[in-house]
Amino acid sequence: MKGIVAFDSVYGNTRHVAEAMAEEIKAQGLEVALVNIGQTMKFDADADFILIGSPTRMKQMTFRTKRFIKKARKVYAGKPGAAFETKLRTPTDPTAREKMAKWIDNTAGPKIREMAEEGGIRMYDEVLRAEVVDTYGPLMPNTLEQSREFVRRFLANMNSI
Ligand SMILES: Cc1cc2nc3c(=O)[nH]c(=O)nc-3n(C[C@H](O)[C@H](O)[C@H](O)COP(=O)(O)O)c2cc1C
Repeated sequence: MKGIVAFDSVYGNTRHVAEAMAEEIKAQGLEVALVNIGQTMKFDADADFILIGSPTRMKQMTFRTKRFIKKARKVYAGKPGAAFETKLRTPTDPTAREKMAKWIDNTAGPKIREMAEEGGIRMYDEVLRAEVVDTYGPLMPNTLEQSREFVRRFLANMNSI
């Protein structure tokens, strides 16, 4: 069995998440291909599942991610998939949280999920919402372990999506 982990990344944070996911797929004994959407829109058509991730910028996935999904859903319709994102961390202070709500509640991951599902990819309900400490990173502590756990849950549920 083989999976694709496709990601876009401007500062490297989403790439770290994608790499941790790919490592976990390998650790589970499966084959994996990483696709850096910023470098290529080419991807293998013979995988069994696909994970797609983007940084959140201005509440959106990147334009390149959108283009990638349009292409990928033609090939991966009917197969299982999952969405992931990076986004700013949620402030613990309620007032700060309130101020940020517009930016941090409306993010790339659910949009990736929706767009891929509209195109027929059988998307996992849960979206991995990885957080960065500040605008350019780094990732919040434990994010890579959470990314691996997400992959394990996805693989365990993949056949019933
Ligand atoms: C121009 C710009 C806009 C951003 N807009 C948002 C946003 O709307 N919501 C959010 O949660 N994070 C936002 N961020 C933070 C990004 O999500 C963060 O830079 C990203 O997780 C980094 O991922 P990358 O290193 O893979 O590029 C923004 C960052 C930049 C530079």
